[in-house]
Amino acid sequence: MPATCVIGLQWGDEAKGKLVDLLAPRHDIVVRYQGGANAGHTVVFGKEVYKLHHIPSGILSPQITNVIAPGVVIEPNMLIRELTNLEDRGIQPRRNLMISQRAHVVMPWHILEDRAINKTVVSGESIGTTNRGIGPCYRDKVGRTHAVRMADLVRPDLTTRIAEIVDAKRVLLSSIASKEDMEELNAERIAQQCHQWADTLGPMLADTTYFLLDNLDAGRKLLMEGAQGSLLDIDHGTYPFVTSSNASGVGVSSGSGVPARWIERVIGVAKAYSTRVGGGPFPTELLDDTGQKIREIGREYGTTTGRPRRCGWFDAVAVRYTARLSGVHYLSLMMLDVLSHFETIQVCVAYDLDGERVDRLPSEAETLRRCKPIYETLDGWMQDVSEVRSLDAFPTNARRYIDRISELIAVPIGVLSVGPDREQTIFLI
Ligand code: IMP
Repeated sequence: MPATCVIGLQWGDEAKGKLVDLLAPRHDIVVRYQGGANAGHTVVFGKEVYKLHHIPSGILSPQITNVIAPGVVIEPNMLIRELTNLEDRGIQPRRNLMISQRAHVVMPWHILEDRAINKTVVSGESIGTTNRGIGPCYRDKVGRTHAVRMADLVRPDLTTRIAEIVDAKRVLLSSIASKEDMEELNAERIAQQCHQWADTLGPMLADTTYFLLDNLDAGRKLLMEGAQGSLLDIDHGTYPFVTSSNASGVGVSSGSGVPARWIERVIGVAKAYSTRVGGGPFPTELLDDTGQKIREIGREYGTTTGRPRRCGWFDAVAVRYTARLSGVHYLSLMMLDVLSHFETIQVCVAYDLDGERVDRLPSEAETLRRCKPIYETLDGWMQDVSEVRSLDAFPTNARRYIDRISELIAVPIGVLSVGPDREQTIFLI
């Protein structure tokens, strides 16, 4: 099995970190290939909880090499903090972490720009970004002229290059950024910071593209760790309420440099209900007590920003689409324990769009906004499932729910999760 991919099928936060951490020991290399510090992957190991933003979730296993590939955008201060946090807890991440020279750097001006533009309304609503500078960094990557890659941090002409970019950014940002923000755009200070980043991160820089290709040729197994979820994919998600990278399965090759021929197994991860952080249409959102109950039981607050997540029932129309788009072989259904407290559970099986029944996700956010969910109601199981360790041990109604979701999205179940701990996972693959 050369490369296995773990892909979120909703709007992110599907508990991919836990699954990657569990699958990692069956692989030699774990790869993060898109997104950046907007991601927050929680890994629970024994009583310890680790929150990772850039570092792949295989970092807790010393024998696994962890790769941050070209498609990731790196906020160096945050990455260094992640490294130090792990070191403070007795882990030595520098030994088994490799960072692509091609990955782009989220510079201070990107964060200012994100903050300034995020206040702007698009289609009547703010995108509600994480304010981590992700969009502006990817924008400069595509624009090229003002981009800074990790390899640039160790170039001899770094100081001159930073001065040139700061000059340009001061002109470009003066009309949107605040006076205080503009004062932060000091070329000398930023160049100095870049030199510090280079000192700390320089030893981990490598050509990860050749590294991965060489290792695939040598028969090693890769685990590709997606960030965010397929509905946030820049090309195929609920645009413009998306992130700036290809967060669905289609992004694996471009972000990592691993060609499609090596990808053998795709595991799609979805919660047993839905959540979304930030703006954008969300047909099954529950703005009532039921939504609040899901939020409290599921502790649905953002790992990166602490924002309360919007909560709602499972949307089988959306997940059927993303499962197809991401080429999913198996579904990993997470957080089933959260639904143990509901007498009835709804699943969205189609939408009502202006009086017509549709079973495909519209490509326009404005059209999706008009979609009303058509629900199928299933009986809840009203029984704790957090101790369940095999498929047969689930209460009948929980089993019915799992089977129905698998049927609706036309993908077999591969993994079931009934709690945050490693042991609270049932592997069927
Ligand atoms: P950005 O990625 O910071 O530009 O934010 C764009 C949209 O993606 C916003 O709605 C964010 O809330 C959402 N988003 C970005 N990263 C994540 C994530 O890791 N989990 C959930 N939502 C995310």
